[in-house]
Amino acid sequence: MTADPADPAFPELPPGAFARVDGGDDAAFYAEARLVTHIDEAAIGALTAFYRRILPPGGALLDLMSSWVSHLPDDVAYGEVIGHGMNAEELAANPRLTRRFVQDLNRDPALPLETASVDGAMICVAVQYLQRPHAVLTDLARVLRPGAPLAISFSNRCFPSKAVAVWRALDARGHARLVELYLRRAGFLAIETHRLSEGWASDPLTVVTGRAPGESGAGPHQA
Ligand SMILES: C[S@@+](CC[C@H](N)C(=O)[O-])C[C@H]1O[C@@H](n2cnc3c(N)ncnc32)[C@H](O)[C@@H]1O
Repeated sequence: MTADPADPAFPELPPGAFARVDGGDDAAFYAEARLVTHIDEAAIGALTAFYRRILPPGGALLDLMSSWVSHLPDDVAYGEVIGHGMNAEELAANPRLTRRFVQDLNRDPALPLETASVDGAMICVAVQYLQRPHAVLTDLARVLRPGAPLAISFSNRCFPSKAVAVWRALDARGHARLVELYLRRAGFLAIETHRLSEGWASDPLTVVTGRAPGESGAGPHQA
């Protein structure tokens, strides 16, 4: 187990909450491209339908912790889709991305993006790998325009050796409460949890959403 960088943003979490079994370099873990999907077709369909409702058409989107698929509706045009991930080959294979960058957020949580430059953001089946969720989500709140939506989705699968200890200790309901806590502490507003699939006939899928803080109503893309 790796040493836990205690995070004063979450005094209610136990010591070791952000430790991982595999403390090895994430860049090495993600060095080989994985051109696979991490949730099944029905769960992806539910997420795509949700994105259609919540993400502003024509807006600039940030797909944080992405890969070769972004699960966006094919027939909706977005102004820009910025993709971030750990593997350049995966991002290059993603047809929705108009810009791409690779960055280990556990080493450097500061996003190389302008303040209030993004109209919506997504993190799909990846939040469990963040060791510094407060730093990442606080900076994400900075790059989002006030009122812009963030959707964090998760299922019941993960690379267990790379997921943080608190994630491994919780069930689906606990995961939702944890992600809500992450968003609340980062200043997001209007936090809601949506159970998109119970997992009876497909992979389970939950989405926690929030709106970026600040004065809203200024831009053309307020959803
Ligand atoms: C299960 S994949 C999900 C990929 C994509 N969002 C999808 O829906 O298929 C987990 C992703 O988390 C991201 N990730 C994992 N560890 C990371 C880290 N230390 N820093 C930044 N991103 C990381 C990588 O982009 C990786 O592809």
